[in-house]
Amino acid sequence: MVDATTTAPDPCVPELTVVVPCYNERANVEPLIRKLDAALAGIAWEAVYVDDNSPDGTTAEVRRIAQTDPRVRCIRRIGRRGLASAVIEGALSSSAPFIAVMDGDLQHDETRLPDMLASLRGGACDLAVGSRHVEGGDSAGLSSRFRHSLSGLGIRLAQAFLPVSLSDPMSGFFMLPRPLFEQLAPRLTGQGFKILLDLVMSAPAPLRVAEIPCRFHPRLAGESKLDVLVLAQFAGLLLDKVFGGLLPLRFLTFCLVGALGVAVHLAVLTLAREVGGIEFSIAQAAATVVAMVFNFQLNNQITYRDQRLRGPLLWRGLLVFMLVCGVGAIANIGIANTLYENHAAAWTLAGAIGAAIGVVWNYAVSSTLVWRTR
Ligand code: GDD
Ligand code: MN
Repeated sequence: MVDATTTAPDPCVPELTVVVPCYNERANVEPLIRKLDAALAGIAWEAVYVDDNSPDGTTAEVRRIAQTDPRVRCIRRIGRRGLASAVIEGALSSSAPFIAVMDGDLQHDETRLPDMLASLRGGACDLAVGSRHVEGGDSAGLSSRFRHSLSGLGIRLAQAFLPVSLSDPMSGFFMLPRPLFEQLAPRLTGQGFKILLDLVMSAPAPLRVAEIPCRFHPRLAGESKLDVLVLAQFAGLLLDKVFGGLLPLRFLTFCLVGALGVAVHLAVLTLAREVGGIEFSIAQAAATVVAMVFNFQLNNQITYRDQRLRGPLLWRGLLVFMLVCGVGAIANIGIANTLYENHAAAWTLAGAIGAAIGVVWNYAVSSTLVWRTR
């Protein structure tokens, strides 16, 4: 006879991990757990909150509930921000066969979770997506007309790049088998809001998707963290996937910021010379400083948004950044001059090689010394 103690399913092992990325969602924690408890009756589940050290004490609230409910866990991340990377870490902490991703602000319809699970259990599909744009779904909860048109634009843009048909590629509510997630995890960019798109676009073969109609509820407490920068990251994600991850997204952003910096430099230089009548060397020095501060700010806001420096660290970072870029500029000029003077390259090519070496240096060194990336 088979030993029952080794074959009986252990009720402590969840079948489903609900990963809940959250930032400043304290007031929504307890209501969501209650809703999950009701919606998932009969299913062994756990909820993993991933909180980026929210100032409102979200972590403390999750831990308070976890004290009496072992199905609830919390991952508290310090010094980092980002929905997608939070989702990845939460999902990777799971040992359950299935993973759901769901917002922590009660906007997603938790009553759809059992249907999503049912569609995956038999293995007939790889991914269940809560969709607002199939029969029975709706997006009434989007806060404004602007958000509606933004969402529509994003959907059309994403669909142009997607390998599978998804009526709601911007959805943040979906479920998939954990082994599939683990397989795709190393390819994910982990940036921005659109982890679903990232997953679908990272799969080596098109995923079989089940779309489950969902209502998108209005937000009752707290506020949305979606902003223009998140949208810029979305565009970046598409570019990154289209270029096949050839160049890291962060590097492309860094280059783009650098190009804007050149424009700022030239604008300041022109103003100082033409309007201010300032001597070239002084105008050039002033333009360099302005462009560096501009680039530092933009990189801190966009390129390294997830590790943004603040307070005294900001000033330290600016100083180191200016030193790093100063060295980069010297290398750039030195190499270009040498190439040109030795007739190794025409002035255009010499200039371009110098600039390329400068930007790679600036990126490599500032991403370790100024913003410490992985
Ligand atoms: N850990 C962590 N870190 N969580 C975050 C962060 C962050 O930096 N930013 C946002 N979140 C959490 C929020 O607390 C919330 O639980 C969830 O991620 C979604 O963020 P919202 O700020 O509420 O986003 P939204 O309502 O504008 O966007 C929703 O709709 C989009 C489609 O229109 C989300 O569902 C998106 O996933 C979805 O794509
Ligand atoms: Mn929301």
